[in-house]
Amino acid sequence: MIWTTSAPANIALIKYMGKDKDNIPLNSSLSYTLNNYRTTVSLEIAKEDYFVNSENLSQFAIERFLKHLNYIRQLFNCKEKFKIQSTNNFIHSAGIASSASSFAALTLCGCKAICDILQKPLPSLDEMSQISRKGSGSSCRSFFAPWAIWTKKSVQAINLPILHHELITVDDGIKPVTSSDAHELVKTSYLFKDRINRAEKRLENLIKALNELNWQQCYQICWEEFWDMHALFETSSPHFGYFSAKTIQVLRNIENLWKENNDGPIVTIDAGANIHLFWKNTNHGKNIHNIIN
Ligand code: DP6
Repeated sequence: MIWTTSAPANIALIKYMGKDKDNIPLNSSLSYTLNNYRTTVSLEIAKEDYFVNSENLSQFAIERFLKHLNYIRQLFNCKEKFKIQSTNNFIHSAGIASSASSFAALTLCGCKAICDILQKPLPSLDEMSQISRKGSGSSCRSFFAPWAIWTKKSVQAINLPILHHELITVDDGIKPVTSSDAHELVKTSYLFKDRINRAEKRLENLIKALNELNWQQCYQICWEEFWDMHALFETSSPHFGYFSAKTIQVLRNIENLWKENNDGPIVTIDAGANIHLFWKNTNHGKNIHNIIN
């Protein structure tokens, strides 16, 4: 018997950066679920757990994945072992939150397979998102769409306007520092002291601006937020960074677009070099050419 499930990635506009034990976030975050960027996980009963590495994942990433499956198995007191297959329809480890979609998909598939085997009811979405959070924090937001808000206490959907996402890939290389390591390293930055307050304030302001459709304000808040996170990276000890020259060039082009038109996309960048744009509507074809070139 084979079980197959897919789950979407998500991109945070207010970032989860800095965490406690079990991936409890130090600050709240707000994300948009990327329905077209998905991981599909299949599980098949086998003699031993083994991972079919079709995505060329690191040994460390594979072990994290196996550890999470083991955690789910223990939760249900299940004895079965599995052959695990996982495929993304987008590049992994390049700042497109592949750990979010892969851990969400593994959690969904693991719960489904084990509950079928043991003939138990499937846990609620809420329970599965909390199980997933233990594997990778940001994955708990992938259970809710289109928007998810994640606080220290809970994760849930939040009703905010639909946006149109576009990804500008400037670099598809592997990240120099994993997000999990970044969560620890940022605590060494002198900018970290007030980070929680800054993120919480921005969250409040962004929700207000989105509700009021104050687009320029949304752009400004999201711009400050991703630079805040990247400034933490660049002032950590040791410091590290993800931007390439092309990232900066695209950011300058976006600034120019805003200056010329008093309008443009919301921008955010995760722990990677690639740039996520959000548009108010789909009618922006002529602008994208100016941004990339
Ligand atoms: C920069 O969820 O990858 O993408 O909980 O250690 O697995 P772990 O970290 P992870 O962190 C994601 C950080 C981020 C910002 C975000 O998604 O909010």
